[in-house]
Amino acid sequence: MASPRVIIVANRLPVRRVKHGSKSVWETSPGGLVTAVEPTLRDTGGSWVGWPGTSGKAPDPFTLDGIHMVPVPISKAELENFYEGFSNALLWPLYHDAIRPSEIHRRWWWPYVEINRRFAAAAAAELKPGDVCWVHDYQLHLVPQMIREQRPDVRIGFFLHIPFPAEELFARIPWRREILSGMLGADIIGFQTKLGVKNFTACVRRYMDVEASGSTFTIHGRKSRAKAYAISIDVDQFERVAAKEEVATRRDQIREKMAGDGRKVILGIDRLDYTKGIDYRLRAIAEVLRRERFSAADFAFIQVAVPSRENVDDYVAMRSQIEELVGRINGHYGEPGLFPIHYVRRNLALDELVAYYRAADIMLVTPLRDGMNLVAKEYPATRLDNTGTLILSEFAGAAHELRRAVLVNPFDVDGIATAIETALTMPAAESKRRMTAVRAAIRRNTVYDWAGSFLKDLTA
Ligand code: F6P
Repeated sequence: MASPRVIIVANRLPVRRVKHGSKSVWETSPGGLVTAVEPTLRDTGGSWVGWPGTSGKAPDPFTLDGIHMVPVPISKAELENFYEGFSNALLWPLYHDAIRPSEIHRRWWWPYVEINRRFAAAAAAELKPGDVCWVHDYQLHLVPQMIREQRPDVRIGFFLHIPFPAEELFARIPWRREILSGMLGADIIGFQTKLGVKNFTACVRRYMDVEASGSTFTIHGRKSRAKAYAISIDVDQFERVAAKEEVATRRDQIREKMAGDGRKVILGIDRLDYTKGIDYRLRAIAEVLRRERFSAADFAFIQVAVPSRENVDDYVAMRSQIEELVGRINGHYGEPGLFPIHYVRRNLALDELVAYYRAADIMLVTPLRDGMNLVAKEYPATRLDNTGTLILSEFAGAAHELRRAVLVNPFDVDGIATAIETALTMPAAESKRRMTAVRAAIRRNTVYDWAGSFLKDLTA
């Protein structure tokens, strides 16, 4: 049987506007989701419904690299309420174990409903009989049920890319029933981990009047099932880029600058987000230096921070805090020409990103809470010779699969410092054994396995 056409609905379209001389054109922006679903979309003639990334009037639908893009407009005021407010100042911190207090404002709710309605209408207009629809993430919780009301004939999936919180946290949301009901509009509700499924199931049992058997729910005779699907990366793509000569040359340049005289390179690469634990990680570097077993002559820590959500207050505050910490630690432990921390705040192109991964002896991935964390999978994928040590937070979804990484509690500054010391002195044979096991785990579940198993369940 031919595969059904898939309609993806996600907050962002996988495109960006790029200047070529005096003209600007759309380009596909790389990302896990687009990589995973691109072949299916292209082969079956599917579409992607999403926001083009700038406020105001949206362009007409267009086709790029074989994918039909359906832009959804969002005004500046709507973005403030729906995206910066409800999605990223209420849901985001709450879902990440309330590591920042959530702001709960009634004025954000109706714009959230309104934008979800707009996405649902655009998706319903795209859907033909026999198509399947796959809705993504916390910005669009209400969309599955809204589409179902208009198109009861199609199969609908929903995947949450971030953690689903414990019942006592979710319970704080004044619109908790509306959110659950929106999600239950889907036939398959996917989470990154089994904990997400467990938390969601507990909330449905507590707040919704539906029949539940395990994590399968019956709503007016229709079944809706919650299940874990761990997202991943295109391992072959990262291996291919890692094997490029230009990338090796760039890696050598980075190492020449940073790794002279046997100095080890430690790396962190994250979106500049308070969930990533960059501040605790910097304190752990300071603790290593305070213990005096190692100095700035023994290692260099490079922290790449990718700008993100710069209009949300907590992100502005986090940036200042990180930049102040970098200055303080370098001021205390560095000397002209020899600083322990090298901080860069920018986006990296794929080749450059991989060159950094290849240059790093130790990778620090220590989010306080993370749905999965793909950096934790990308770094090992580029370590073609099985060298390098991954220090990984227990609270990232990736820790469930990558058991042979050096696991740490990301809130435990002393514990991270000890893990860094362990990694700096780890015998090569042990780090190779660990990296080999981590790489094998990543190979067992690629982004294609993730999308394939979700779509298989959705179309079953
Ligand atoms: O991890 C959730 C997520 O929404 C990703 O899908 C996205 O790449 C990242 O956070 C950044 O989100 P934003 O679209 O808000 O920049």
